[in-house]
Amino acid sequence: MHPSHPCADNEVDTLWQVQHFSWMQVSKSAAAMQHMAERWGRQGVRIGFVPTMGCLHAGHLSLMRRARREAGSRGKVVVSIYVNPTQFGPKEDFSRYPRDLKRDLKLCRAAGVDAVFAPPDGQMYHAGAGGHDSTFVVEERLSQRMEGAARPGHFCGVTTVVAKLFNIVRPDVAVFGAKDYQQVAVVRRMVRDLFSPVRIVVAPTVREPDGLAMSSRNTRLKGDLRAQAAALWRAIRRAQAVVRQSTAPVPAKRLRAEVEKLIDREPAARLDYVEFFEPETLLPVTGVRRGTQMALAAWVGKTRLIDNARL
Ligand code: PAJ
Repeated sequence: MHPSHPCADNEVDTLWQVQHFSWMQVSKSAAAMQHMAERWGRQGVRIGFVPTMGCLHAGHLSLMRRARREAGSRGKVVVSIYVNPTQFGPKEDFSRYPRDLKRDLKLCRAAGVDAVFAPPDGQMYHAGAGGHDSTFVVEERLSQRMEGAARPGHFCGVTTVVAKLFNIVRPDVAVFGAKDYQQVAVVRRMVRDLFSPVRIVVAPTVREPDGLAMSSRNTRLKGDLRAQAAALWRAIRRAQAVVRQSTAPVPAKRLRAEVEKLIDREPAARLDYVEFFEPETLLPVTGVRRGTQMALAAWVGKTRLIDNARL
C-alpha cells in the first residue's frame, strides 16, 4: 500500500513498510519492526530473538532452532541482520565484513524464521538532521579485559546496539552463542543492571569437523590459512588435556606457554591473548583447574579469530 493511500494511518503505513518475503516478514524500518513486535506482544505471542551481523552459518542456524524451542510453536522467531558500525574500531574490518543479505534471507526462510529485521546503515543511529546519537550503554566491569582490552570501545558498541535491538524487537527470550563468551557475560550483566524484561539463553558453539569454531570471518581464510586456523581448537584441546591429567592446579603461565607454542607452530598465526578465568566473574586465575574458563584470540593472516571453552 502506498503511504498516500487513504487508509495509510500509522498502523497501515507500518505494514506498507514490511515487505513480504514469502511468508517471512522482512522489515528494514525500526518503527515497522517495533509496531509488529508490539502487536504480537498485545496478542500474548512469545518472541524469541537472535541478533546477528549476517553472513549466516550453521552456528547462527542453531541459535534460530533454539529460539524456536524457547518461543514455542505459537511464538515468533525474529532474527536481526545488522553489521553494527559502533562495535568496530577505526582500524578494524567493518567495511570488509562479509555481507550477503539475499543468501541470509533464504537461510532464514528455510530455518522457519517468522521475521527478519535488516535495517540499512543509518536506521539504527540518528545521523543526519537530528545529529548523531548521544546515548550509549556502557558495562564497566566485565568488558575491561580480553576483547575489551584488545578492541577499545567494542563492548560499548555491542551493549548499545543490543539494547536498541531489544527495544525494537521486544523479545521475551534472546539467544546468544557461547562462541562469544565475554559478549554473553556483558549482555547478561546489562540485562540484569537495567532490569531489561528479556531472558538470555546461551547455545553451544558449533564447530567445523576439524574443531574450528564457525564464524562469518572464516570465509576470509583462503588456501592454507583455513587449515592453520584449526590451531585455536588444538590449543584448547591441549589445555583441556593438561588440566584433566593433573590432580593439582596447573600454573596459568605454563598453559599460556603451551598455547603460544601451538599457535606459533603455524606460519601465518600469531596469538593475541589467552586468558584463564573464573566463568562467572571473568577474573583471571593463576592456578588453572577443571571448570576454569579459557578464552583466546589469534590472528591467522589478516583475520582475527576468537574461541573459548570450559577446561
Ligand atoms: P555475530 O558475530 O553475527 O553472531 C551472532 C550470534 O551468533 C552471537 O550470539 C554469536 O555468539 C553466535 N555465534 C557465532 N558463531 C557461532 C558458533 N560457531 N556457534 C554458535 N553460535 C555462534 O555477535 C554478534 O554478531 C554481534 O556482536 C551482535 C550480538 C549481533 C551485536 O551486533
